[in-house]
Amino acid sequence: MGEILRNAMKKHIPVARADELRPGQRKLVFIDGKSVVLFNIEGTIHAIENSCPHNGASLASGKLEGNVLQCPAHGLRFDLAKPCEPGGKSLCLHRFPVRTIGDSVTLLVDAAGTP
Ligand code: FES
Repeated sequence: MGEILRNAMKKHIPVARADELRPGQRKLVFIDGKSVVLFNIEGTIHAIENSCPHNGASLASGKLEGNVLQCPAHGLRFDLAKPCEPGGKSLCLHRFPVRTIGDSVTLLVDAAGTP
């Protein structure tokens, strides 16, 4: 399936008001049964599935230092500002594309609610 067709089948789901997620804040939301954590790091909003790729622990309460989130279960660290390298050695977070539309923070998901 082509990239244009894949994007045409996706939709933006509002998950927060832009003014409720200020720099340094985080928010846990649920989309079609999936738990997603939003982080505002210095004005950039990141959205990840609330499940550590190591063993599934919740990342919502993970310690954040700069862009680096530490899993509370076993301490693995993930840089939210760096994309995961396909085929790389490190575990990859499941990320959701985020966009602010008007005064809403939205996640780009497909018709089934997955990124
Ligand atoms: S479950 Fe996150 S580091 Fe093990």
